[in-house]
Amino acid sequence: MVELLDKKFTSFITKEEIDKEISNLAESINNNYAGKEVVFIAVLNGAFIFAADLYRKITVSSSISFIKVQSYEGMQSTGSVHEVIGLTTDIASKHVLIVEDIVDTGITIEKVKTLLNLQKPASVEVCSLLFKPEAFEGKEIPKFIGFSIPKRFVVGYGLDYNEKGRNLDEIYQLKEQNCSQNTMLNIVLFGPPGAGKGTQSERLIEKYGLKHLSTGDIFRYNMSNDTELGKLAKSYIDKGQLVPDEVTIQMLKDQVLQNQEAKGFIFDGFPRTNAQAEALDQLLKELSTEISVMLALEVEENELKNRLKKRAEVSGRADDADPKVIANRIQVYKNETEPVKAFYQKQNKFIGIDGIGTIDEISMRLNEAIASI
Ligand code: AP5
Ligand code: MG
Repeated sequence: MVELLDKKFTSFITKEEIDKEISNLAESINNNYAGKEVVFIAVLNGAFIFAADLYRKITVSSSISFIKVQSYEGMQSTGSVHEVIGLTTDIASKHVLIVEDIVDTGITIEKVKTLLNLQKPASVEVCSLLFKPEAFEGKEIPKFIGFSIPKRFVVGYGLDYNEKGRNLDEIYQLKEQNCSQNTMLNIVLFGPPGAGKGTQSERLIEKYGLKHLSTGDIFRYNMSNDTELGKLAKSYIDKGQLVPDEVTIQMLKDQVLQNQEAKGFIFDGFPRTNAQAEALDQLLKELSTEISVMLALEVEENELKNRLKKRAEVSGRADDADPKVIANRIQVYKNETEPVKAFYQKQNKFIGIDGIGTIDEISMRLNEAIASI
């Protein structure tokens, strides 16, 4: 936690996460502008640190220039943009990339784009480290976005609160706004393949208004869109093995950070290793909240195999189609995932749930368990 003037701020996005995201952004920009000449225009003051770190990873032919506009006073976006000052570079017929620390309502950036377009550049795009989708009122979202964040006041890594905090090397959020998060209901819905995690999650999100985070579903979404993450995940999932912790933890963290306004989370299929459980505890602690309970659906092996065999007829999931892969998923569960129960037992947060019966019966058992915490 840090204190700036009269306010307290808690950690939000770490230095490591920022570094990694900047490398991703630089790679996308280098690919997008391959063979072209680009003029980077960084918007002072906020973008100075981001622009410096990003620009050192740029390999396409380019130059950088800095402009200044006034749009923030205190903690409210005033929406009033004055003139753009400091642009000395000739941008006519050139590809321009505006570098921003944050795009909030988008009013500033719209006006900057309009002013730059008067000089007839070949193109004008925006790269913003942070983007607030809920606050955005502009026409076109930035082409390159580092992190989409909720409507929070953030400082650090170039961003300020009344000119303080720009020198912090990570991004912090205003503390008052996440005090209520310790009242969140955060459930780990646990169980072997076919136990009914997905089926029961659907009921729980409806009843309690929670955000459902299924790592399996997120991997499958990436697989169907053939993303790099999807290709990597497929090589493990099709064999019934776990996707490496490093990849899974980062993906889960991104999802939690993007959904901080939720009343709580259902973690379905995560954590599956003790390392994942520890990382989840740490992340929730940083957000001033914690896991409320682990609800573990208990279903015997033959029933699991029968359910998955039946689901294979409709699911289209490659990992359901082969009985050997199903057997491997169950074995991996026993060896690597089941020990996670002890992690929550030690914290007195474990509740076992009989997972045999009708879907309604099991929902009732889950609701009773939630009422008991
Ligand atoms: P994931 O998608 O999580 O799959 P899973 O754990 O194998 O579980 P399933 O989704 O198959 O089953 P479920 O418990 O959700 O049951 P469902 O409700 O569908 O993970 C897939 C893969 O991704 C993993 O193998 C791994 O490679 C990777 N992965 C994911 N998370 C990871 C992580 N954290 N770390 C590393 N790798 C990760 O129900 C099953 C069927 O039974 C359905 O047809 C349903 O209709 C039926 N059914 C449900 N309830 C009942 C009932 N009461 N009676 C009869 N039938 C029922
Ligand atoms: Mg599932």
